[in-house]
Amino acid sequence: MSSVQQLMKKYEQRLVQIRRELHMHPELSLKEFETTKRINAILAEVGVEVVDIGTETGTVGLIRGTNDGPTVALRGDIDALPIHEENDVEYRSTVDGVMHACGHDVHTTSLLGAAMILSDLRDTLRGNVKLIFQPAEEVNEGARQMIEHGVMDNPTVAAVFGLHTSPDFPAGQVAVKSGGLMAAVDTIRIEVRGVGGHGAIPHATVDPVVATAAMIMNLQSIVSRNTSALDSLVISIGTVNAGIANNVIPEVVKLTGTARSFEPQLRQKLPEIVQRVVDHSVAAYGATATLEYILHLPAVYNDASLTPLATSVVTEICGEGSAVEPTPTMGGEDFALYMQKAPGFFYWLGTGNKAKGYVHQWHNSRYNCDEASLPVGSGVLALSAIRALEDLAAR
Ligand code: NI
Repeated sequence: MSSVQQLMKKYEQRLVQIRRELHMHPELSLKEFETTKRINAILAEVGVEVVDIGTETGTVGLIRGTNDGPTVALRGDIDALPIHEENDVEYRSTVDGVMHACGHDVHTTSLLGAAMILSDLRDTLRGNVKLIFQPAEEVNEGARQMIEHGVMDNPTVAAVFGLHTSPDFPAGQVAVKSGGLMAAVDTIRIEVRGVGGHGAIPHATVDPVVATAAMIMNLQSIVSRNTSALDSLVISIGTVNAGIANNVIPEVVKLTGTARSFEPQLRQKLPEIVQRVVDHSVAAYGATATLEYILHLPAVYNDASLTPLATSVVTEICGEGSAVEPTPTMGGEDFALYMQKAPGFFYWLGTGNKAKGYVHQWHNSRYNCDEASLPVGSGVLALSAIRALEDLAAR
């Protein structure tokens, strides 16, 4: 048994306690004040230096190993969701309408577990480990904030690792995939403008509703007619708002949507294609439109050079056959922003358990995680840092 595995055992019970405390006291994005205090207290308790980078919520721990060694970062997100928990468990959320329904309580706990393990092994580390407790992942804001406050500098981060819970794999399995794992996330805002009037006299109006209906259908043809069938792409219009009366043709229709893709070259072309389809679709009906296309997050692209390390870390922690190949998702993750600063690897930590009923997907009001995953997440993060530091120091 490796020393990391021994320490996973040592902290197992404490990790369950911490996870339940976090689960009972969830906080929404950018409001993670008490969560941040809890994390800082635990870091201090286990002898990890807390670095204040000046964000209002979220925090950074720094474990200094060998002088002049490289620095590796581990990241866990800490925010919860505006969902009312429907699980009937003793550690149920105590906050009405707020819930850890995406497993960020497990991420936070895993990172704290890694802090405990690495703090105990401090004398053997070949460099430094930065522990990034990131706020506001759910609103695509936290990573940007942490990076703007210099979390990847001083000392400069040479590699970054993170994980997300996955209900699709049982505890004891960890999904490892080279390349695209989670999609790029872009936001679309459209305003279609016509000339309002009486619903009975449409020829005297420019009806933006009919123009919008055609435009929405045409936007779907981008996926099938403008991009390769081999490149994944989703365009979804999520909100459509117009009008106040059944017999009045409105002036304006407002829409918002999301575009998800993997290939950077495809993503680059999208704003122009969407603009063309929007403009010409509504022009056919005499209406005009404005488009705001916001490039939010790049894709989570696991670095091929780190994949062998990731596979061997999972195999060492969980045994032969425990590193499984996942199907990528069109869901996004702002972990991608750290990967633009340093090579990175993002794991999916198996947290499902059919026998215990932990089968619900992310953001479901009955979402829950198998706590047997807590030492696994801690061990995988800790050993990733140890091995990455060894590799970097050997170069
Ligand atoms: Ni999440």
